Amino acid sequence: MEVIICPNARRVGEIGAAKVARIAQAVGSSVVIGVATGSSPLDAYAALADMVEKGEIDLSDASVFALDEYVGMPYDNPESYHAVINRTVTVPLGLDPARVHVPDGASAELSTAGQRYEDAIKQAGGVDVQILGVGSNGHIGFNEPTSSLSSRTRIKTLSERTRQDNKRFFSSIDEVPRHCLTQGLGTIMDARNVVLMATGPGKAEAVAAIIEGPVRAMWPGSILQLHQHATIVIDEDAAADLTMTDYYKTTYANLPDWQRLDV
Ligand code: F6R
Repeated sequence: MEVIICPNARRVGEIGAAKVARIAQAVGSSVVIGVATGSSPLDAYAALADMVEKGEIDLSDASVFALDEYVGMPYDNPESYHAVINRTVTVPLGLDPARVHVPDGASAELSTAGQRYEDAIKQAGGVDVQILGVGSNGHIGFNEPTSSLSSRTRIKTLSERTRQDNKRFFSSIDEVPRHCLTQGLGTIMDARNVVLMATGPGKAEAVAAIIEGPVRAMWPGSILQLHQHATIVIDEDAAADLTMTDYYKTTYANLPDWQRLDV
């Protein structure tokens, strides 16, 4: 795992975007990017949009796969992940909407929607770089604690903690959906690279558990310890509970030039 500790949230977005951009440049314009919703990647999406506008990266043929969608929420609801991805990723990055995929949580055939999503990812050649946030309970995607570490895209029940965390997007807790269709931990692990971003003190416990704790289903993000190319970009607040902070900072400060992400 590569752990990069940044002075503030904005820098997390810039460095996260720089990592994604480096992979996109290496793969070419038909790169396949996995995207997360939520607050954590928003600065990175803004930084990537800036790079696209300046011609620094070419995403003209890029495909995108979102991690998850609420079950039963119409896609014209502004809080559906179809709408969120369109607003925060598709439009700002100038992507072709036909190549932007979000799990079909409002499908009339929900029981097969997970397999269809897995097939679509496979057909696109797999994900080159998966952007992730992490829940305060350690979830990635909506793989809540006790999710199978080898799970594939399927319906999950949101934990009460996640519903409380996400109620800021709704007018009351009763409006927060209870079910979602989410990529599994096995699906996420198949991405060739992952870039997880986390900021703020509310993420400190989860960040420490997934980076330095044992790999276990109670902290689903800890599965990333088994990934060959996982980069975790966090701010000082989210890094507060780590024990190897000096090591991570020294490592990053002494990276060879070809590995540096400074922008
Ligand atoms: C979003 C997702 C979640 C979020 C996580 C953190 O598609 O799958 O895992 O990344 O809940 O959310 P924020 O970034 O809002 O704190």
